Amino acid sequence: MEQQILTILYLASSLTFIVGLKMLSSPATARRGNWLAAAGMTAAILGTIFLYRGSDGAHLGNYGWIFTGLLLGTLVGTYTARTVKMTAMPEMVSLFNGMGGACAALISIVEFGHLHHQPGGLYANPLQLLIILLGLIIGAVSFAGSMVAWGKLNGKVKDFSFPGQHILNNGAILLALAGAVYLIHGHPADPSLVFHTVLALSLLYGIFFVLPIGGADMPVVISLLNSFTGVAAACGGFLYHNKVMLTGGILVGAAGTLLTILMCRAMNRSLLNVLIGSFGGGAATGGATSAAGGTYKEINISDVATVMAYANKVMIVPGYGLAVAQAQHACHELEKALEARGVDVKYAIHPVAGRMPGHMNVLLAESDVAYDKLLEMEQANEEFRTTDVVLVLGANDVVNPAAKNDPASPIYGMPILEVEEAKTVIVNKRSMKPGYAGIENQLFFQPKTSMLFGDAKKALQELLAEIRNV
Ligand code: TAP
Repeated sequence: MEQQILTILYLASSLTFIVGLKMLSSPATARRGNWLAAAGMTAAILGTIFLYRGSDGAHLGNYGWIFTGLLLGTLVGTYTARTVKMTAMPEMVSLFNGMGGACAALISIVEFGHLHHQPGGLYANPLQLLIILLGLIIGAVSFAGSMVAWGKLNGKVKDFSFPGQHILNNGAILLALAGAVYLIHGHPADPSLVFHTVLALSLLYGIFFVLPIGGADMPVVISLLNSFTGVAAACGGFLYHNKVMLTGGILVGAAGTLLTILMCRAMNRSLLNVLIGSFGGGAATGGATSAAGGTYKEINISDVATVMAYANKVMIVPGYGLAVAQAQHACHELEKALEARGVDVKYAIHPVAGRMPGHMNVLLAESDVAYDKLLEMEQANEEFRTTDVVLVLGANDVVNPAAKNDPASPIYGMPILEVEEAKTVIVNKRSMKPGYAGIENQLFFQPKTSMLFGDAKKALQELLAEIRNV
């Protein structure tokens, strides 16, 4: 009876993961989707703790250890998630993802020990040994890579590469795979030594695979590592014949892979180019001030207020700078003030605006901007022609026309928001410094563009005060 209840519980939990994941695809349902999947996960964990029986017919036991771990994890997770800044979100995802990779690798280590001491030893079940080794390699790569990514994003680890690095990297992973094959087929005299060598080589590969990748490409790498963790967790599900773990792992693996592909597509770059290129590596530390692209004109707050207050249609383009300035609430206030004057206000969202997928949607949702005001890139590009004023708030690369016009540009081919189609463009940023890709933006020098320099939050607050007086 207990086992039937557990099976039904696992099935229900798997369903909550699938439905929850589907709900994450719209900002309107994302929060509920997250709660639903979390509830499913809680039910699966509690079911495993209280209902699961091992091959010896006994429950898991060790309740003191289990609940102390659960309590500590819940406290640390809740505190971190509540206090993390939106701009540090990729960093947190990376750290949590690394923990998932470590868990998968630990499962493999524990199960290797169990298999070793079983009657018949390691070679009684070669398929199980194969799954253990896969979980070990993928989990260890994901753990080590995520830790390096975390260090790079919080500035503690610098980009690092040396001649022949790719040879060392590829050598390490090939040796790890060769070690795994040897362990399964070669029946070595000391299997533990080979197993731990495979682990060490996988960790080494994880470290050196992420170290040289430019800071700007970290979100793509984190998403890729996330998919690795999913696959490693699925290996655990396979080992324990645990369907909910298998489903969860496969969903994470597939979602991470799709997200990686979508991000690469939105930047018009191949995954290989992200992994071996150094695009954007230096941009996070700030490029040189440069206005070599020509002359640009500045505009003051009161002129911006007049132009916007008398417009029919305004499109706001948020970017990374909006997140840095934490200007989302001021932005929403501006939207309301303009709408009170009869101006039609919408937001144009580029898929890779900001530093992580959905960054702008989450920020704007935080300040209660209505979801139907957020236009996706294709939709926004159709509307710019009929827009009077575009207000670019801390966005740069995602509105750079070089992506369309300059075949020599590193971002050539990246789909962009075609803001220059609107009648007037106002760009708010603090200086003429380049954005993430570290390149000049010709938009700033076009006759219809005016630059409003300053911090986005401060500029918006001043603008709001002016508009209320117009
Ligand atoms: P960016 O091109 O990085 O430009 C952001 C701009 O914000 C900067 O030029 C900066 O100029 C300005 N800024 C910074 N702080 C500000 C503040 N307090 N107030 C006002 N402005 C401020 O951002 P974007 O247009 O959002 O493009 C995103 C970039 O990230 C793309 O290159 C994209 O490929 C890359 N990327 C994104 C993702 C995802 S999934 N979102 C993943 C990988 C890579 P000043 O310094 O002059 O103020």
